[in-house]
Amino acid sequence: MDQFKHRIAANVASLLEGIPAEEIRGLLEVPPGPAMGDLSLPCFKLSKALRKSPTAIAEELADGIQGGNRENVIANVSAVSGYLNIRLDRTAAAREVLPGILSSGENYGSQTAGEGKTIVIDFSSPNIAKPFHVGHLRSTVIGAALYRIFNFLGYRCVGINHLGDWGTQFGKLITAYRRWGDSAKLEQGAIDELLGLYVRFHEEAERDPALEEEARAWFAKMERGDEEALALWRKFVDVSLAEFAKIYELLGVTFDFVTGESFYNDRMGPVIQELKQKGLLVEDQGAWLVRLDDYDMAPALMLKQDGSSLYHTRDVAAAIYRKDTYDFHKAIYVTDYSQSLHFRQWFKVVELMGYDWAQDLVHVPFGRVSLEGASLSTRKGNVVKLEELLTQAISKIGEIIESKNPGLAHKEEVARQVGVGAVIFNDLSGNRIKDIEFSWEDALSFEGETGPYVQYTYARASSVLRKGAGRQEQAALSPEYPDGNGTNVEPDNAFDSLTGEAEFALVKQLSLFPEKVEQAAAKLEPSIVTRYLVDAAQAFNRFYHDCPILTEDRALRSARLALVQCVQITLRNGLSLIGLKFPEEM
Ligand code: ARG
Repeated sequence: MDQFKHRIAANVASLLEGIPAEEIRGLLEVPPGPAMGDLSLPCFKLSKALRKSPTAIAEELADGIQGGNRENVIANVSAVSGYLNIRLDRTAAAREVLPGILSSGENYGSQTAGEGKTIVIDFSSPNIAKPFHVGHLRSTVIGAALYRIFNFLGYRCVGINHLGDWGTQFGKLITAYRRWGDSAKLEQGAIDELLGLYVRFHEEAERDPALEEEARAWFAKMERGDEEALALWRKFVDVSLAEFAKIYELLGVTFDFVTGESFYNDRMGPVIQELKQKGLLVEDQGAWLVRLDDYDMAPALMLKQDGSSLYHTRDVAAAIYRKDTYDFHKAIYVTDYSQSLHFRQWFKVVELMGYDWAQDLVHVPFGRVSLEGASLSTRKGNVVKLEELLTQAISKIGEIIESKNPGLAHKEEVARQVGVGAVIFNDLSGNRIKDIEFSWEDALSFEGETGPYVQYTYARASSVLRKGAGRQEQAALSPEYPDGNGTNVEPDNAFDSLTGEAEFALVKQLSLFPEKVEQAAAKLEPSIVTRYLVDAAQAFNRFYHDCPILTEDRALRSARLALVQCVQITLRNGLSLIGLKFPEEM
């Protein structure tokens, strides 16, 4: 669609005095309903510059275009209450869009715009010794989707898992573990065991305040590099990482670096020095902080009374390290919105330190997840763990497959791909800033705006293509890419028959994919891709319902099969970007 917009904008600009085509391109919109054309230009946005009424502008443009100055992809135009409504030539559109998709294949929608630029994405970042909960799921799937989207647009991405592996809570854990824990229980119970110890620490500390003192002492030892303290800490880290690894494996998420907060320990001193030198640190009751009153923010605490560093300090040190190491174009941080102030504070500290790249630091906040009334508080120990969520989703999908399609090949793998996909898709389906109330019913439905629905549509397209190619064999899980499917169509006029209502709507929908990917990156909003996939799947299902594909008419049949193949390519590329697999049959 973008290519059409460019040409139509040039066409319109040639009829107007002094408005650049680029500006017109930005104004062209896809109207809400097909009755208003395929593209529309809201002329009231030009009336100030042109000193004419929107109606007059729309009418002049309509006259000019109908009078012969007409880009060939335009079929006709009409002026309706200040809008210039444009109808595309269906044949011209199909001729251009479909061969483009077929020849691009897995690169359809990709770009080279980001070449030479690096984007650092700090995401997932769970806390050691605490369960990976549904809140971290969002950071993981949003971060991983942004990573793939930017990669697709040509950027080099660096994915960092900034584990919460340092801080006073480890002093508490060491204290609790030395009193009540043992290594056999730890091996067995893993994070549950650590969580139990943490909960017990808080219960007992209410009666016995000396515990808090002991915990502080242990953390101080960790900071001084005490071997006994560090050995225990490492044990907690290893146990936790082994458990997180299972979840990343299920989600299909990897990182370039798993460097937790502790990675920056030896960079803390220099940051404090630098802050002091630059006159930014002030003492307050033995602690050191940066005042941010001028920016209407609470001060950023950089050093505690006991000399230990804080979350802020570690983020500043990490950002300087990342700038030095990767020379990033942008550094993105994906966390829930409750941390917005934290990021605004330390971004400001970096700016006050005189680093102009502070403006390239971006917090990507997202809403909270509530899970049918379940509490997400870690401290009380009643958390909903992500691994359980995923295994439940997989087994629910397994049951559905068992009842609907018991003979399916690779049943277990498909259940896994669809179950996990349902959870990921659900998480990415609304604007990220919105709170989510997770519902099993919504997420696992094969209908409506869900992952299974899009995956099912993909499988349906694949099945049509197999039949079209006369292949009856069981479908593989992931096909060779791109899949030839035997739809050898002649160029030029091969798609001229695809001008029916549902066919044209589908062609238009497919043509929107590249700009949706671009918007998703610009707005840091993977849900744009997710919602697009639902729209594309619906457009395909309407076409599938209205138009017989495997008809006797050979030319029509191969044109329609080619269209289905374009659907397959587009859905596959979109699903991959948001992190879903695409089983060939389900
Ligand atoms: N570990 C933190 C948490 O679970 C998230 C860390 C986000 N990244 C960062 N650089 N602050 O809340």
